[in-house]
Amino acid sequence: MTILVTGATGNVGRNVVRGLVEQGARVRALTRSPRTARLPEAVEVVQGDLLHPRTLAPALEGVERMFLFPQAYRVPAPERFDDVADPTRAVEAAAKAGVRRLVAMSATGDLRAAITDSPMEWTLVDPGEFMLNKQYWAHSIRTEGVVRFGYPDSPGCPVHEADIADVITAALLGDGHTGATYELSGPHLLTPAEQVRAIGEGIGRDLRFEPLTRHEGRAELVRQCGEEAADHIIEYYVEWATNPPRVLPTVEQVTGRPGRTLRTWAADHAASFR
Ligand SMILES: NC(=O)c1ccc[n+]([C@@H]2O[C@H](COP(=O)([O-])OP(=O)(O)OC[C@H]3O[C@@H](n4cnc5c(N)ncnc54)[C@H](OP(=O)(O)O)[C@@H]3O)[C@@H](O)[C@H]2O)c1
Repeated sequence: MTILVTGATGNVGRNVVRGLVEQGARVRALTRSPRTARLPEAVEVVQGDLLHPRTLAPALEGVERMFLFPQAYRVPAPERFDDVADPTRAVEAAAKAGVRRLVAMSATGDLRAAITDSPMEWTLVDPGEFMLNKQYWAHSIRTEGVVRFGYPDSPGCPVHEADIADVITAALLGDGHTGATYELSGPHLLTPAEQVRAIGEGIGRDLRFEPLTRHEGRAELVRQCGEEAADHIIEYYVEWATNPPRVLPTVEQVTGRPGRTLRTWAADHAASFR
């Protein structure tokens, strides 16, 4: 059985590929740039672009199960592409090629509807906040041992990308996931100051937390990740100040073990913080 992984070179996708290979699955990985993909030997790497569904036919040949990664549908303006305005085309192409099971992450709008209306066995994975967002703090941690943040009253329960991938891998390989929508979170609800403490413990360094005003906090975040991403993330921080996200049991229910902590995540990414 061949499993096609899209987004295979990304933070989540690499972990999906690793998990599938470890469990003995035959993996084909889609990338726009096979030469720079750096995927494990055991993986068949194929070239293709989700924004150009015509390029997917060879990648989909003989595929029984597939992980669909949404990134492609968000970044560029769809009008720049000839045959792409409609991301549902990739879902159609998969069903037409005989894919029986589709697991998709963060699928929204028309894409989500196309998946849930499709004849395939589908599972949706909605990850919530990524621990990876804490990499925005890496520069000031590296250079000054400090995090300056404008939303000190907005707790979060971010999730490790390896846990997202483990849920996706379970849904690709296991039984009983068809028709499920898995909302994920990390294992703990933490204030920003507690998040900074957990990162400090993970990298073995005392860190300071300095609250900023919202105005200063936005400017800092824009410096860290650009205006568009900053404003997108800030919407969540504002919401969480009065309506915090919930810690969800899904990772443990699906994978059989508790989700990885932020401390573990920081240790896994210690190199970015040194
Ligand atoms: N940050 C958060 O808190 C958060 C929360 C929920 C959801 N998300 C979602 O998570 C995603 C980010 O995940 P990540 O960190 O794993 O991503 P990432 O590391 O940035 O990886 C991006 C992947 O997308 C692939 N890709 C991009 N455009 C493509 C195209 N046109 N055709 C085929 N593949 C394409 C890339 O493959 P190649 O370059 O090899 O072609 C790469 O594997 C975003 O979609 C975001 O909306 C994020």
